[in-house]
Amino acid sequence: MNRHQDPRYRTNKRYTLLTGATGLVGRYLMRDLLLKGHQLAVLVRPTKQELARERIETILQMWEEELGHRLPRPVLLTGDVTQANLGLSPKQFRWAKNYLDQMIHGAAVLKFSGATPDDDPWKTNLGGTANVLDFSRLCDISHFHYISTAYVCGKRDATVYEDDLDVNQEFRNDYEISKFQAEQMVRESDCFKTKTVYRPAVIVGDSKTGYTSTYHGLFLYLRLMAMLIPEQSRNAEGVFETPISIPLEGDEPRNVVPVDWVAKTICHLVCTPEAHGRTYHLVPDKCTTAREVIEYCYEYFHSSGVKFCGRGKERTGDNELAQQLFENTSIYASYETSDPHFDKSNVNKFAGHLVCPPLDKDMVFQFIDFGKENRWGKVKPKTPKVARWIETHLTEIALAAQKTMGVLRINGVNRLLKFGLDIHGPGGGQWQLAVNDGKFEVTPGLPDDSSPILKLSDIQINDLLLRNDESEVTHKDASAVSIDWAAPLESVMAKKSESDS
Ligand SMILES: NC(=O)c1ccc[n+]([C@@H]2O[C@H](COP(=O)([O-])OP(=O)(O)OC[C@H]3O[C@@H](n4cnc5c(N)ncnc54)[C@H](OP(=O)(O)O)[C@@H]3O)[C@@H](O)[C@H]2O)c1
Repeated sequence: MNRHQDPRYRTNKRYTLLTGATGLVGRYLMRDLLLKGHQLAVLVRPTKQELARERIETILQMWEEELGHRLPRPVLLTGDVTQANLGLSPKQFRWAKNYLDQMIHGAAVLKFSGATPDDDPWKTNLGGTANVLDFSRLCDISHFHYISTAYVCGKRDATVYEDDLDVNQEFRNDYEISKFQAEQMVRESDCFKTKTVYRPAVIVGDSKTGYTSTYHGLFLYLRLMAMLIPEQSRNAEGVFETPISIPLEGDEPRNVVPVDWVAKTICHLVCTPEAHGRTYHLVPDKCTTAREVIEYCYEYFHSSGVKFCGRGKERTGDNELAQQLFENTSIYASYETSDPHFDKSNVNKFAGHLVCPPLDKDMVFQFIDFGKENRWGKVKPKTPKVARWIETHLTEIALAAQKTMGVLRINGVNRLLKFGLDIHGPGGGQWQLAVNDGKFEVTPGLPDDSSPILKLSDIQINDLLLRNDESEVTHKDASAVSIDWAAPLESVMAKKSESDS
């Protein structure tokens, strides 16, 4: 049963708001939800260099290049989770109240420690989640989805179940505590029909392309190796020598998951109503070990010489290479020695068909190749190419619709024309246009009733706008209305009069 057939979802409020869409997980989730035809809105803040709409456009154009086809554009809400009402303008807030039915809250700061409780990670992870919960209540949102982390389990080492949360565990850092308290707050909120929690383990790049937008965790280790190994001396066989002692057994399990699998699984669960209301451990079926990753790196970099000297052993006589590695990765030291077994029964039950790709040699090679090509995050994303931002041409489109309506007058009467405009591709977007005798009203998002929807690509709409500029159409000179304009609008009108009769 899909969302629109499920009685719990029979509502005119059809939009889902995603926070964190510019982040690593969020950009995959945005792509996957749009591909599933989800009516999506995103909450994005501008940067010093880019407007919020440009940031989303950059990401969607990257996906379009990879997919080889256009995607719809989500409704954009410019805001910030650390502000009351998420910093939305009154107009945007009204829209949210009328149209939002679901919230997927993924925005967070992945900083491990904060100087004061007013600082990050608390400010965004705890304060931000409190604001998102308040906002969702005010907007009467029914279904709340929260992206937590598997590490709300803190330093536990026994099996952790998906229903577990507070078992008096100790934590490694402020990030874990902030996410733990935020998940508690979500669980305690009582204003939603369903609350669903996703707990990913350590997220790495794309299992197929190696892509990442952040260089922490495994990518930090890989970057250091890529920088430092070529500076070492080679032995007689030409192999780089990396004589480092690591105070581990080497076989300690690490729960690592590729971002594409995390997003695909969350997307599937969001789109499966009967899966809502539970907690999901997004963890691998098979853990990774430091020994495996180092062996893959030996092969990639033609190096050798790492020794595992045993867990907890004192390191002595570190060479410069070892010093650099350990100094730069010290924030992860507490994660290296232990990782619990995470039970994933709920994931297996509702998304077991989506198999988590294991971190193997090919994947690690992809990550290093991607990191090198991307100069470990230094290559700036391409500036988005937009011929026209359609939102700045809505008046023109509404007037053209009105002219065409003149041609299509039914029984000599101009009637209210309300239709959705769904423009896929660069500069596109989703709007609702209501036109009546030269007056028109524009609302973001597609209509929530049975009004027809005019779905065009950016190329088609740009072509129509260009023809419209060139034609000397007047209200009386109906025959001069561009045939291309008339055709799509005629079909919209036909559907409208069918539904009216
Ligand atoms: N990465 C992991 O290994 C991992 C593991 C387990 C769980 N998680 C969880 O998964 C979620 C996504 O993580 P990620 O790796 O995708 O992180 P990320 O790449 O750092 O993205 C964080 C996102 O949050 C947004 N954000 C931060 N502060 C905000 C604010 N004040 N207002 C609005 N948006 C704000 C960021 O927006 P800007 O682009 O504007 O900064 C960005 O879109 C988080 O909840 C995280 O705790 C991550």
